[in-house]
Amino acid sequence: MKTLTLAVDPQKPDIERIRRAAALIRRGGLVAFPTETVYGLGANALNEKAILALFEAKKRPLDNPPITHICCRKDVHKLVQKIPSNADKIMRKFWPGPLTLVLERSEAVPAITVAGLSTIAIRMPKHNVALALIKESGCPIAAPSANLAGKPSPTSAAHVLQDLNGRINAVLDAGPTQIGLESTVLDLTVSPPEVLRPGGTPYEDLVKALGRVKLSPVVVASKTPMIGETRSPGMKHRHYAPNAPMTLVEGKAEDIVRKVSELALSQKKEGKKVAVLATDETISRYQADVVKSMGTRRDLSNIAQNLFKALREIDLENVDAILAEGVPSKGLWLAVINRLRKASGYRIVKT
Ligand code: TXA
Ligand code: MG
Repeated sequence: MKTLTLAVDPQKPDIERIRRAAALIRRGGLVAFPTETVYGLGANALNEKAILALFEAKKRPLDNPPITHICCRKDVHKLVQKIPSNADKIMRKFWPGPLTLVLERSEAVPAITVAGLSTIAIRMPKHNVALALIKESGCPIAAPSANLAGKPSPTSAAHVLQDLNGRINAVLDAGPTQIGLESTVLDLTVSPPEVLRPGGTPYEDLVKALGRVKLSPVVVASKTPMIGETRSPGMKHRHYAPNAPMTLVEGKAEDIVRKVSELALSQKKEGKKVAVLATDETISRYQADVVKSMGTRRDLSNIAQNLFKALREIDLENVDAILAEGVPSKGLWLAVINRLRKASGYRIVKT
């Protein structure tokens, strides 16, 4: 299959191009599109065949359901059984935006779209291209991140094509995404509500809005979560993983630099080609074959934006080992450290 690239302006996308993409979705096709978090791979959420093709294109295990995207609040009604009282408030406050809500699903949703679960994950993205595509398609769009399963999520159309060129019908290219990490997944079917995946909406903001909010144990885990510990199916699969084994070093900033340097040196002595994933503040301190910065520690949003890109760039260097600097865990940092831990397969050294 030839993958069509449709370039569009992120603010004012050309409606003819959006309609071309929407026609593909309506015909059961697969279209990658930008959101404010990462690029998603979209298919009609109510079309079983299209969803099966979506899982196949991504090589995604069938037990890991995608998020269903809508373009206005009222569209949530036909997808869910009931809206809990706290959900209405949360939707008004955080949508459109990087927050996914898990709710009891309705019979209108095919089982494959939710991997056989009785719940559905829904969000309204804050991106004009995504919203226009959903509107013109006239259906809810199921969209996992547009990467091959296990790889870092794509933050540009080029990343999408690296993984999926020839496997999908089209990609809407509106340049790099703004946040760079996926949405926060909040389960509203339990009391208190529970964060199943940290992401673009900080935990602290949810606590402010809802009072009590639980952090799923897997969110804060610094070791591989046990099967059964997770209700977000995606959390148990290997994720965001670069090709080479990655070790994450956590602790105080100064100790991290020392430990990463020490590990880099000993791995180089073993004859390995070593990459260090550093920050602007520390990049000049390392001697390794490849040193990449995730961005400046003074601007967390910059690190979030660059993280997946840096992981993909390191992959292209064909290194044997990666050493990554740890970061704090407050606010949006929680999502960053969670992705780093998962990318390392929980190979973590504490200083
Ligand atoms: O920012 C995002 O959320 C991006 C953009 C494209 O919107 N999408 C995304 O989708 O990250 P995906 O499929 O890569 O991640 C969806 C996550 C997975 O961890 C999945 O297990 C979880 O949401 N999930 C989906 N349905 C669920 C459900 N019913 N209950 C619990 N977790 C669910
Ligand atoms: Mg994903």
